[in-house]
Amino acid sequence: MESSEIRKRFLKFFEERGHTLIPSASLVPEGDVTTLFTGSGMQPLIKYLLGEKHPKGVRLVNSQKSFRAEDIDEVGDNRHTTFFEMLGNWSLGDYFKQEQLPWFFEFLTEEIGLDPNKLYVTVFAGDPENNVPRDMESVEIWKRLFKEKGIEAKDVELITEKNASELGMQGGRIFYYSTKNWWSRAGAPAQMPPHEPGGPDSEVFFEFTDARHDEKFGKYCHPNCDCGHFMEIGNSVFMEYIKKEDGTFENLAQQNVDFGGGLERITAASRNDPDMFNIDLLKPLISVLPTADTDQRRKCIIVDHARASFFLISDGVRPSNKHQGYILRRLLRRMIVQAHLGSFGSFAGTDTLSTGAAEDIKAVFRKISEVYQGIYPLNLNLANEVFTDEFNRFNRVFRDGLREIKRLEKIDAVTAFKLYESFGITYEIIKDVAGAKAETLTRNAFDKEFEKHQEISRAGIEKKFGGHGLVLDTGELKAGSKEELKIVTRLHTATHLLNAALHKVLGDSVEQRGSDITAERTRFDFLFPRKLTADEIRKIEDWVNYAIDKNFPVAFEEMPLDEAKRSGALFFYKGHYPERVKVYTVGNADEVFSRELCGGPHVAHTGEIGPFKIEKEESSSAGVRRIRAALSS
Ligand code: ALA
Repeated sequence: MESSEIRKRFLKFFEERGHTLIPSASLVPEGDVTTLFTGSGMQPLIKYLLGEKHPKGVRLVNSQKSFRAEDIDEVGDNRHTTFFEMLGNWSLGDYFKQEQLPWFFEFLTEEIGLDPNKLYVTVFAGDPENNVPRDMESVEIWKRLFKEKGIEAKDVELITEKNASELGMQGGRIFYYSTKNWWSRAGAPAQMPPHEPGGPDSEVFFEFTDARHDEKFGKYCHPNCDCGHFMEIGNSVFMEYIKKEDGTFENLAQQNVDFGGGLERITAASRNDPDMFNIDLLKPLISVLPTADTDQRRKCIIVDHARASFFLISDGVRPSNKHQGYILRRLLRRMIVQAHLGSFGSFAGTDTLSTGAAEDIKAVFRKISEVYQGIYPLNLNLANEVFTDEFNRFNRVFRDGLREIKRLEKIDAVTAFKLYESFGITYEIIKDVAGAKAETLTRNAFDKEFEKHQEISRAGIEKKFGGHGLVLDTGELKAGSKEELKIVTRLHTATHLLNAALHKVLGDSVEQRGSDITAERTRFDFLFPRKLTADEIRKIEDWVNYAIDKNFPVAFEEMPLDEAKRSGALFFYKGHYPERVKVYTVGNADEVFSRELCGGPHVAHTGEIGPFKIEKEESSSAGVRRIRAALSS
């Protein structure tokens, strides 16, 4: 089935069930400064999910233009895009699980005609600490629905997301996950700020039986594996909780349903073809690019960035060095460079951008306006104008920037930022064209440098965290004032060093059990069967002080949770982590001292921590030891 047919049928299906069609909101959220782009259909509806009356009633449906800049690094494979359309239906305190899951199942199997044997589902495993129970109601509904299709749906516990790839499918069809089956704008429960609504969700996955599991992503495949064998095609969020100031949850005044499903993905499933770029919305765009260029990754990047840029321009965004404009500039410039490489293969012997590249992109724009004709109002002349202007602006500085890249021996975050500032060469372009010279450059190091210059400095962070206890996924960090926050931040980095030092001295059986940081001290609990000797304590302390003396830089990198866990970074196995996490690294090119999943904040260099002292080592509970440590200045 084509996307236009699926979009039409989805809207009609829910209209027939009492839903009112609402228009797609702008990609630039109105009156919401917390986020740059509309990334899901529920964002414009927040106040109604919280209880305000929607003028169109309690049942709504639409197809929402969505843009997720955070997925930019994933673009280039057969299924990731920054721009996508999200089919959505909502119950604002009206129906709940008993209606939502059967409806979506009926839509997929009856309307779209998906084979129920290829559908797998996940449900929320429960979060006893936050008093949110396991979602057995959804399990029962799913069992019944599959049974009606003659399928015995077995539920399987994938004890933690960490070992799902060790356990594999086990003949199951319904799987329990924890943080993966919780949805809020901010991610997992621990990541949510106070007053943020969220809830358990149930996702449906389509199995591409011909796409073989790739062991690079883990030993065995499972629904949430990222190898591409399974693709998530819809998420029913049961939005019924709100986070309180004290970090616990209470019920919202109403039980809501927030459903979202990627139109492009559902279309790929209906075609039973894992390559999303073969669907009717994307294939025509790929096909106008030069056939001589056989680099499919490059074509996916160009097509994705062109489509996203076109929609952003149509919603009023213009290239600039700030906010939404900065993202648009990056998309435009990167696709120009990619299109240039598509024509010439390299920059050898040329130092201006090919006008052929500009023509290729304009051809993609033309195709986009054809493909979306009658669906979204897109202004081709405006897109071409904005693009041409940016192309010319970029072309004036690009030659010098390229020369500078050729001259440089190594490109770190500071040099990379200079390349951006002086020549408008963005991070992605540096990564695309500088090769080995920029191998160690990370997005986060670059972003940090960028933020410094944008003066989104620590003051902002202090405003955000000051006066509140910041609940970390690894434990607690409590700061009441700016001054305290500084000390707590130093102790927080010191705690990472302590965790790494414990592994060095006591071995890898050490496993974090909790931590608690105040302005006076850090307290760290970990699994270890006996009392530590005085010699071990001294060695641990020495390792921490060694790392402090080295004045190692502290940097973070954002990546998908699975990848972070596979990277060998330490993480708290009971922690709630979102799908994308930060991995903090303490160390330099010669030595990585510590790598750990964490939300921050941290000092920039370990030298800021000052001398570290272990004050006490004691038993905390059976098999768990507790260390208290402090800083001497
Ligand atoms: N808001 C939910 C999501 O984006 C449906 O997955």
